[in-house]
Amino acid sequence: MGREEKLEKELKKELDDDRYTHTLGVAYTAACLAMRYGEKPERAFLAGLLHDCAKAKNMDHKKMLSLCEKHKIPVTQFEQENPVLLHAKLGSFWAKEKYEVTDEEILSAIRWHTTGHAGMTLLEKIIYIADYIEPNRKKQPHLDEVREICFRNLDDGLRRILHDTLFYLNHKKSIDPTTQQTYDYYMEYDSNVQNIQSTECNSNDT
Ligand SMILES: [Fe+2]
Ligand SMILES: [Fe+2]
Repeated sequence: MGREEKLEKELKKELDDDRYTHTLGVAYTAACLAMRYGEKPERAFLAGLLHDCAKAKNMDHKKMLSLCEKHKIPVTQFEQENPVLLHAKLGSFWAKEKYEVTDEEILSAIRWHTTGHAGMTLLEKIIYIADYIEPNRKKQPHLDEVREICFRNLDDGLRRILHDTLFYLNHKKSIDPTTQQTYDYYMEYDSNVQNIQSTECNSNDT
């Protein structure tokens, strides 16, 4: 049995049915995005498989907080108040300790899959996006359009998801400051790119 197959079997036991279905959706979507944008599909698949590994059936908020304390994983004030967010940090820790992943980029993609961060790697973007658009997702607004954008231009897709996440979550609960920082960074990044492009166009005119 191959490594992925073993992992799938183990995760099927650890996660509830819906979480496991979502996990497979993220893994395959991430592999497709990887093929589209020049990342290794096996890496993206593995990161997708493990991205929610800390959302195991036997895990609750209290346990997440105590595991972070035990393993000296820093917890922000916002995470203290919204412990579900800790599954990203814990998942990255488990991927390394329990599932023996040594590829730092995979660990980092798991670490940042809920909020993103400024200056994300290709693999981090792929996992962040796959988590949002995988085929079992139903509740996010304008999903058909968002999916189409993500396969057309990865950064446009990222910006659109950050925008919709802030807009959508804003109605329900407060926003993790890191998500807001990621959004601000990529909006700024976009205008910087446009400024550079318009300067280049202008200089080509002369
Ligand atoms: Fe997650
Ligand atoms: Fe997820």
